[in-house]
Amino acid sequence: MLNKNDYVLNIVDVCKSYSDQNNKINILNNINLSLFKSEILAIIGSSGSGKSTLLHIIGLLDLPDSGSIIINGLDTANFSRSEIDRIHNYSISFMYQFHHLLSEFNVLDNVALPIIIRDNSYEKARQLAENLLEKLGLRGKEKKSPCELSGGERQRVALARSLITKPNCVIADEPTGNLDKKNSMVMFDYFLEMKNEYGTSFIIATHDLELASKANIRMCLEYGNLSFI
Ligand SMILES: Nc1ncnc2c1ncn2[C@@H]1O[C@H](COP(=O)(O)OP(=O)(O)O)[C@@H](O)[C@H]1O
Ligand SMILES: [Mg+2]
Repeated sequence: MLNKNDYVLNIVDVCKSYSDQNNKINILNNINLSLFKSEILAIIGSSGSGKSTLLHIIGLLDLPDSGSIIINGLDTANFSRSEIDRIHNYSISFMYQFHHLLSEFNVLDNVALPIIIRDNSYEKARQLAENLLEKLGLRGKEKKSPCELSGGERQRVALARSLITKPNCVIADEPTGNLDKKNSMVMFDYFLEMKNEYGTSFIIATHDLELASKANIRMCLEYGNLSFI
């Protein structure tokens, strides 16, 4: 039986608009959503519908015009920079569409980086990174540069980097956008494994209806409104 404490996040009445010279364009109109531990939510919607905007707001990378983002029961509205950093270090990880791996670092250090920064511990960070890379089928790639990897491998490195802090929730913006069908399914299988093993929740923006069909919950963002499908 789930209870209130199992909520990972609640989004309450979130609105966001952008203005150009003449017009105000509403991107998000009173968005509400709740996510429990171990849930996988897929958000579909055409290009430009506001998926990335919503994900950035949920991930505390951007601010809404109004509304609340409640993470682990805490309203983040008045969080300081260091409290937001703490959420990013411990609770919520963002997995970018174009993975944003650092080409100056090898695969192992790309994955280890969040723990190196958080705990200032190279040994522990590299050990955790090595274990995670092995789990995600990337053993033997540790010393390679991200540029030497295939698209699917890079996405898995990005996933490893977003999981190394054992976050409650991974927010993934079109994580399979650059992958073929087979690699997309492999990626989703890893999401499932993490959900089952660690209780991780996922919010995934995707164009891929087959991928969305495998999520626990599916919602569609259209004309600023989020609805169940
Ligand atoms: N910083 C910004 N300034 C002005 N308009 C923006 C900005 N970011 C996004 N938009 C606009 O908001 C809309 C939604 O964009 P986005 O959230 O990236 O959609 P999606 O991820 O669904 O493709 C688009 O029309 C986009 O042009
Ligand atoms: Mg987008």
